[in-house]
Amino acid sequence: VFVPGCSLDRYGNRFVIGIMTIRQMQPHDLNFCLECVKREGWLSETRATFECFLNHDPLGCFVAEDAGRSIGMIVATPYDSAGFLGELIVVPDMRGRGLGKRLMEHAIKYLHEQGCGSVYLDGDTLAVPLYERLGFKTVCRSLRFVGRVEPQESRSVRAMRTEDLDLVASLDRAAFGEDRSALLRFRFDRFPELCLVTATNDAVAGYIMGQPGHGVVTVGPWYVSEYLREPLDLLSAMACLIGDLRLRLGVLESNESAVGLMRSLATFEETEPSWRMVHGPDSGLGASYQLYAIGSPAKG
Ligand SMILES: CC(C)(COP(=O)(O)OP(=O)(O)OC[C@H]1O[C@@H](n2cnc3c(N)ncnc32)[C@H](O)[C@@H]1OP(=O)(O)O)[C@@H](O)C(=O)NCCC(=O)NCCS
Repeated sequence: VFVPGCSLDRYGNRFVIGIMTIRQMQPHDLNFCLECVKREGWLSETRATFECFLNHDPLGCFVAEDAGRSIGMIVATPYDSAGFLGELIVVPDMRGRGLGKRLMEHAIKYLHEQGCGSVYLDGDTLAVPLYERLGFKTVCRSLRFVGRVEPQESRSVRAMRTEDLDLVASLDRAAFGEDRSALLRFRFDRFPELCLVTATNDAVAGYIMGQPGHGVVTVGPWYVSEYLREPLDLLSAMACLIGDLRLRLGVLESNESAVGLMRSLATFEETEPSWRMVHGPDSGLGASYQLYAIGSPAKG
């Protein structure tokens, strides 16, 4: 993508960019990505997060460059008929010049080319107008909770095993609406100690996955089948594994049981929510009442 060398920013100031290109992210870009997320104070994004993106679909990870300088990024995750966008950041001194919009257009086009008719994202309130101008519509709020829960082991909760993965992936697919097994497997391979299942009579009735962030463990997906009487058991068992760290999770506002449960826990604080938005038809991606926590704000 090329931008003419000289243009006006949103305040009418003339500015110069050399030749802006959007190219595929490479492993050597990870330091730039980590600087960006650190500057924004995003606690859940780590090197492993970006390694997961590059591992899952390197062609969907993009960096914007101006005269050799990295100035922005975005990550597109194609599933089958729907895709997800995340990690949109433009470096502060280049904002307000249409670069965020260009990165979005580039990533949406990529997802359309992969056959994704619906494109989802979890957007910060400040960025919602930008997304609306691109044709996104709000679906519901994507709530954020940070806190602790009393650590408690439960007889029915145990560590996830490799042989559970096929069943976990198929339950997840039915609930989420698309196949995210590659992402679940990556998470399990990296952080098996933070993956738990509830198993009754050998049938998996629930699972939860965690990933270390900065001072937090980011939880999700957290799946609770209708056969599971105590959804909180999984979160309480996770708390046994993480010492002093806080738990962080995202819950779609449309899941009233999950929202009710989280709000009943006085030890959790609700932080600034995001907006789940969709471009194209809303296929209900991730909106199942069985999903008590989203997988991640960048992947749904
Ligand atoms: C969001 C962001 C990528 C937009 O990049 P950009 O190059 O400035 O985008 P554009 O010039 O194409 O569009 C500007 C629009 O971004 C939105 N925006 C402005 N400031 C913003 C901010 N601090 N945070 C989020 N969005 C913002 C507004 O809708 C703005 O529209 P306006 O110019 O009419 O006010 C950039 O502000 C950023 O990196 N913010 C921090 C990270 C972030 O919030 N990412 C989005 C998470 S969902």
